[in-house]
Amino acid sequence: MNILLTGGAGYIGSHTIIELYKAGHSVVVVDNLSNSSAVSLKRVAEIIGVDGIPFYKVDVLDREALNKVFDENRFDAVIHFAGLKAVGESVAKPLEYYHNNMTGTFVLLDVMRKHGCKNIIFSSSATVYGDPAVIPITEECPKGHCTNPYGQTKSMLEEVLMDVQKADNEWNVVLLRYFNPIGAHPCGRIGENPNGIPNNLMPYITQTAVGKRQELGVFGNDYDTPDGTGVRDYIHVCDLASGHVAALQAIAKKCGVAVYNLGTGNGSSVLEVVNAFMKVNGVKVPYSIKPRRPGDIATCYCNPAKAEKELGWKAKYNLEDMCRDSWNWQSQNPNGYEE
Ligand SMILES: NC(=O)c1ccc[n+]([C@@H]2O[C@H](COP(=O)([O-])OP(=O)(O)OC[C@H]3O[C@@H](n4cnc5c(N)ncnc54)[C@H](O)[C@@H]3O)[C@@H](O)[C@H]2O)c1
Repeated sequence: MNILLTGGAGYIGSHTIIELYKAGHSVVVVDNLSNSSAVSLKRVAEIIGVDGIPFYKVDVLDREALNKVFDENRFDAVIHFAGLKAVGESVAKPLEYYHNNMTGTFVLLDVMRKHGCKNIIFSSSATVYGDPAVIPITEECPKGHCTNPYGQTKSMLEEVLMDVQKADNEWNVVLLRYFNPIGAHPCGRIGENPNGIPNNLMPYITQTAVGKRQELGVFGNDYDTPDGTGVRDYIHVCDLASGHVAALQAIAKKCGVAVYNLGTGNGSSVLEVVNAFMKVNGVKVPYSIKPRRPGDIATCYCNPAKAEKELGWKAKYNLEDMCRDSWNWQSQNPNGYEE
């Protein structure tokens, strides 16, 4: 298939390009580079062994520019990664988040429809489950209350996409609810490159280990979990990437709407991740316990059985692999893609 990746220069998108190529698909990337660098695409091309990745520096809010991309290409499906994703920032800048993520998707869907491309895979998130009613979380678990605008955009966009499909059954919509992607391509040439102070655990760990941050804050050690720290379902970004290739099967089978959890099904606590990281890489990560962060939940991990049963997809990397590959990327690229 020929696939358009919006936000394809970003962390998950760049890894997904590689998996799509490996599976014989071709890609075109649209990204406004607001949270990424075109260097990632150069490196992806190196990894794959091609001259370059077809790329348009276009904002999905720019209808005219997006129309032009669709005029110049014929797409079988779109994988829609483009969006702002920093939870804390979304609380401070709700309008920017709602506009970028919601309006950006409305424009994209309208342009897709005009060009007769009605297949979309959407980057959703475990955050739509709120404080989950059931653990491990299956796709049947009711959606919960999202405590921040970022999560709201994911939850609302899921509804929007389902409404679009309900109104016109030529659409096929796959909602992929990601758990916690970490790690990097094993070659260490591409990885997560957060702007400013990282929000998430792994980039904070790697930046502390490389000396850019003094110490890691562990937010809360009095949760109802085995060691008191929060438990999450960490998934290697290459596994997550291959989940998108698998999801194309649902599109090919004309799934209508399909929802899949993409996680490993294993919960790891913050301290387990920190200790695994130090052990695998032989580096120290100083940390201290801080108060809980508002909005954080104790435990979140999924039951990934549906994706395995229907798509034949299963995560294959373990926590040690994720820690090793995260460090491999960070230690070789202390400043990310900046020279
Ligand atoms: N990383 C995670 O932990 C996680 C978890 C669940 C869901 N997601 C979702 O997965 C998607 C990809 O996440 P990621 O971690 O690769 O983030 P990322 O920031 O690395 O990638 C997103 C990309 O979208 C681009 N972008 C943003 N707004 C745009 C716009 N208006 N037009 C064009 N491009 C735009 C950014 O420049 C960036 O390259 C996002 O939608 C994110 O919300 C991520």
